[in-house]
Amino acid sequence: MNQLSLIRIRAAHLKDLHGIADVLTDSFHSREGWEGWMRPVFRLGIYEDMRTRLREAKPSSAPGAGYVNGGGTPYYACLVSVLPRSGTVSDVPEETVVGTVEIGVRSLELWIPGASPQIYVSNLAVAPAYRRQGVASQLLIACEAIARQWGAHDLYLHVLQDNRSARRLYFNLGYRLHRVEPSLISWVLRRPKRLLLRKPIK
Ligand SMILES: CC(C)(COP(=O)(O)OP(=O)(O)OC[C@H]1O[C@@H](n2cnc3c(N)ncnc32)[C@H](O)[C@@H]1OP(=O)(O)O)[C@@H](O)C(=O)NCCC(=O)NCCS
Repeated sequence: MNQLSLIRIRAAHLKDLHGIADVLTDSFHSREGWEGWMRPVFRLGIYEDMRTRLREAKPSSAPGAGYVNGGGTPYYACLVSVLPRSGTVSDVPEETVVGTVEIGVRSLELWIPGASPQIYVSNLAVAPAYRRQGVASQLLIACEAIARQWGAHDLYLHVLQDNRSARRLYFNLGYRLHRVEPSLISWVLRRPKRLLLRKPIK
């Protein structure tokens, strides 16, 4: 059977934290050079950040809650793509986290007093061994479903100008440039610019 057909998307639980931290660390930090040496520190930081957010968003058992973690924090969800681990014998299925994404609410126009916060996607990552199989696309489509459930009209996310793979993914799914974020630091240090993308979902 095709491995991809076994992958499913669900709301993240605290038990997924190690898997999520591994996927995010592998996706956003190199294993080479100084980043390789600092890897345990980066991983711990990611783990603790995620733990705080997941604890605040206790999984909801309400019928029809879908992917949304619900409970404590409204308008926050962390999703995982999971693959059943072969050889599982216990009643509780063991799963490997192969991808993750968060969706929440963020103010995108901090300089405009009273500007309403928008639904914002962040921390999208897929484990290197599972890329180019549609995992990220599925996670983003699940985010759209959540945003519609919340009554949103648009979805926003940031991507770095030099992240060609992510930019192509977003473009294919209908995200378009909303604005280039002004940043003195990236101008001075010649760092890639942050692009704010938007997708209308209604
Ligand atoms: C970007 C990322 C999330 C894509 O995950 P993925 O599961 O491989 O993406 P998908 O399989 O859904 O890709 C869908 C489409 O996006 C584009 N795409 C994805 N990865 C690509 C790559 N490495 N090169 C070129 N195009 C790519 C392709 O058009 C692809 O369709 P195709 O495979 O039919 O050509 C993954 O590479 C990753 O985790 N990168 C590191 C973290 C990151 O950059 N996150 C985004 C932060 S903004």
